[in-house]
Amino acid sequence: MSCELENCQCCSEISDQQKLEMISEVIEKYKNKEGSLIQVLHIAQNIYGYLPLEVQKIIADGLDKPLSEVSGVVTFYSFFSTEPRGEHTIRVCLGTACYVRGGKKIVDRLEELLGVTVGGTTKDRKFTFEVARCIGACGLAPAMMIDDVVYKQVNADKLEAILAKYYK
Ligand code: FES
Repeated sequence: MSCELENCQCCSEISDQQKLEMISEVIEKYKNKEGSLIQVLHIAQNIYGYLPLEVQKIIADGLDKPLSEVSGVVTFYSFFSTEPRGEHTIRVCLGTACYVRGGKKIVDRLEELLGVTVGGTTKDRKFTFEVARCIGACGLAPAMMIDDVVYKQVNADKLEAILAKYYK
């Protein structure tokens, strides 16, 4: 069994033993390939949802690399996470255009609504809450994204309705 799909959700219902078998297969497949570490980490994150230290150790052992190298790559790239992530990722833009048009108010209101600060994941694992520098919608600031969907001219009063869509 293997899983290499981007943003795959199919692994949330499989057992730890099955996950271990999957990652072992992946390691075996990429073992002797040059520059395979990032690829293996991506697949492992899709399987586990995040990359805790124990998974990093399995990968380091399997690829015959020092754990420090694996951990270094995981912490360097922002798309890797060592904590469980939410089902959806919210990114509020705090680039200049969005900041001056109220981006910080969006952040403050979302912190209230979600009950977490920036960088956190809600208790129900629905959302991971992050900020971004610019998401390319400066003309319609303030803007935010949830996964790949861009919300433009957002204001604090619209947030509850936006979040509610993700609970349907
Ligand atoms: S500064 Fe927010 S979209 Fe560009």
